[in-house]
Amino acid sequence: MTPPLLRWAAVLALLASPTLSSAGTEAQLTLRADQSGPVINRNIYGQFSEHLGHCIYGGIWVGPDSPIPNTRGYNNAVLEALRNLRVPILRWPGGCFADEYHWKDGIGPREKRPSMYNSHWGGVVEDNHFGTHEFLDLCEMLGIEPYVCVNVGSGSVQEAMEWVEYMTSDAESPMANLRRANGRDKPWRVRYIAVGNESWGCGGSMSPEFYADNFRRFNTFIKDYVPGPENRIYRVACGPDAFNYEWTETLMRTAGSQMDGLSLHYYTIPSGRWESKGSATEFGRDAYLSTLAQTLRMEELVSRHSAIMDKFDSKKRVGLAVDEWGIWTDVEPGTNPGFLYQQNSLRDALLAALNLHIFQAHADRVVMANIAQMVNVLQAMILTQGDKIVLTPTYHVFEMLKVHQGATSIPVELRTPDLASTRERIPAVSASASRDAAGHIHLSLVNTDPDGPVTVACTVVGAAPGSVTGRVLSAPSMTAHNTFDSPHVVEPRAFTGATASGNGLSVVLPAMSVVVLDL
Ligand code: AHR
Repeated sequence: MTPPLLRWAAVLALLASPTLSSAGTEAQLTLRADQSGPVINRNIYGQFSEHLGHCIYGGIWVGPDSPIPNTRGYNNAVLEALRNLRVPILRWPGGCFADEYHWKDGIGPREKRPSMYNSHWGGVVEDNHFGTHEFLDLCEMLGIEPYVCVNVGSGSVQEAMEWVEYMTSDAESPMANLRRANGRDKPWRVRYIAVGNESWGCGGSMSPEFYADNFRRFNTFIKDYVPGPENRIYRVACGPDAFNYEWTETLMRTAGSQMDGLSLHYYTIPSGRWESKGSATEFGRDAYLSTLAQTLRMEELVSRHSAIMDKFDSKKRVGLAVDEWGIWTDVEPGTNPGFLYQQNSLRDALLAALNLHIFQAHADRVVMANIAQMVNVLQAMILTQGDKIVLTPTYHVFEMLKVHQGATSIPVELRTPDLASTRERIPAVSASASRDAAGHIHLSLVNTDPDGPVTVACTVVGAAPGSVTGRVLSAPSMTAHNTFDSPHVVEPRAFTGATASGNGLSVVLPAMSVVVLDL
């Protein structure tokens, strides 16, 4: 078990930090390779796909009759990009959409499925062509764990109960037979179920007490149809909206013993104001710094919610599932405001790496995180336009840091300068390290300084780095991004700024960069 102080040090400096005033300032990092921290749950690299804008329709799913190259309706280019990302878990069908979704409308012959009104997202009418079979087949094809959110807000307990039976039962039971009649003989492997989404808001405007009772009621009827502890369904209760600590306290007190996980939602809003969030690509230094300050509040959120959970669950049996996070900016000009389509810049890549480092530093409690969202919505991995796709800077961070998935964390001690002249403290350097099953040590580093490089003087206790290889993601401008015309502006490149000697390592991190080293 990593001592709390060391965990904290993974993200913020332990000691009073000097302020960064000029290029060439040093940070000191110690990797305690002689110690082991908790395993980094690979589900921290999870994703979220909602029936929202063009995440599903026109993104993942184009339909089997589309002129866009597809495999049984799934966009081939998107499939290929996702394979390379090694997505561990995918949340579906929402978001707010989940609490108005009735799953039986999305099964059976597609042309016979009823349509539905998507009241939350653009008021579009959708044809239900992407339903349970399409989602679970996608997960199966890509080796992804499905994470299904059942409808608590406007659905019934019976509906939720039957859905779980439909997906997971192999018996000669009514729902399993209905699945067979729809062309799928064997059940799918579905281990993660969320009981409602944002039940304090779009999922039903419930009080924590009322939701806790509802969680217990729904949970009673979510049955395990597959024997064996490894197949037991992992039940995630709806957790708080960002800083609502009272919600966590009430849920843990009244329903903690019946849940496996508790969710947490927190979005980074550049301006801090929902009415005018700020542009995804047209911003200056102030917005850059305030965005980083907002995103680093994830540390406080995870620590404080986790501390409340500790009061009721000192053994950390209940996991924290940060199942919605990421940057939320104004939509791209001229696009449907209800579709939440935004571009993605180098700033967002740094932000993604900072959050992943925070989750890894709390690997003893954070069991899952799902960035919002996978394709064409909010902080997306992939943007699509007809048959073209663009991989965003955030995609590249997820791809570079995937080496940490399922690895054992290595405690780190970091002394970093802070960025100069910021109201909130913004450390220049963030670091996270792990050892994979083959014994390789992976070190990821972020330099948030927009003005120049930072040299990290690193000591590896208990191992000598030997040869070092790595990749870097950076660009000259904080607003740099990839477009359909110029898709390779922000991409990982080979990194040559690390020098090993004995058990020491010197790394020169370029301004605004993410570096991943393989020691
Ligand atoms: O991700 C977009 C929306 O944000 C989700 O539908 C909702 O859960 C959250 O408020």
